[in-house]
Amino acid sequence: MDSKTILKKLDRIDDLPTLPSIAMEVNKMLRDYDTSISKLAQTIEKDQAMVPRILKLVNSAFFGFQSEISSISHAVILLGFNTVRNAVVSISIIDAFSGDKKSLEGFDITKFWNHSVAVAVISRYLAEKARLQPLDDFFTGGLLHDIGKVVLFQHFQDLFKKVWISVRENNLSFYDAEKKEIPITHARIGAYLAKKWRIPGSLVDVIQYHHALSKNANNFNLLMTVHVADIIANSFMSGQESKLDFSLIHPDAASAMKPQLKTVSDWFPDLSTEIESACQFFNVCEK
Ligand SMILES: [Fe+2]
Ligand SMILES: [Fe+2]
Repeated sequence: MDSKTILKKLDRIDDLPTLPSIAMEVNKMLRDYDTSISKLAQTIEKDQAMVPRILKLVNSAFFGFQSEISSISHAVILLGFNTVRNAVVSISIIDAFSGDKKSLEGFDITKFWNHSVAVAVISRYLAEKARLQPLDDFFTGGLLHDIGKVVLFQHFQDLFKKVWISVRENNLSFYDAEKKEIPITHARIGAYLAKKWRIPGSLVDVIQYHHALSKNANNFNLLMTVHVADIIANSFMSGQESKLDFSLIHPDAASAMKPQLKTVSDWFPDLSTEIESACQFFNVCEK
């Protein structure tokens, strides 16, 4: 099976998680220049179960704002269209992809979301320190970066198993094992889906290039930050001796984030509390 066949197969899978129509609609609306605040708020308010969760997220410390936002239109006015969209997309994607609790050696959905939430919190922290904006883009990018892995696991289990065996036997990273063993990577699968969901190009690029940075990405700073946050999460959350392997970090990212990288073992322990509360928020904590 080559990569085209795999993507074609992806097109034909009926039970592939789709973004709830509300998130698709919001993404579509934000492509139109004439979308008004009230129109967007009305669309989101159609899903009454979603509203309190969005408000809770935009009011949370880890998403970027600590304020008293009491309605969707208030959120749009204060935070802007993009932030509200990020909140809708984040909640929808976690919902769509955490229902299936089956796990296999090498993949556990709770661990997966735990890692993604950690990368989200770390990305946001790095962006804040580097004075990059908007912070919620960094959070959302971190949250979504590995989404292709869930799809690989749920819908291409043979390929997933091949990769996992190679990770163990050859002591490779997941991404390197994918490149060695199968014709596609989780990065490519994730980006393919994300494009279908019509999420912004800068987020699609984070999904596609977080292991192999591309200078042509829509937002290189965003991509670089998530790339570094991913490596930090992998080194510091493995439960083993925490040491950052600088050889994994792209040289551009290493030089842009030198001050943060030099002091990572000082600030990371404080951030762990924030990661924990973000995991609790999304209900993806490891017991
Ligand atoms: Fe990845
Ligand atoms: Fe990752």
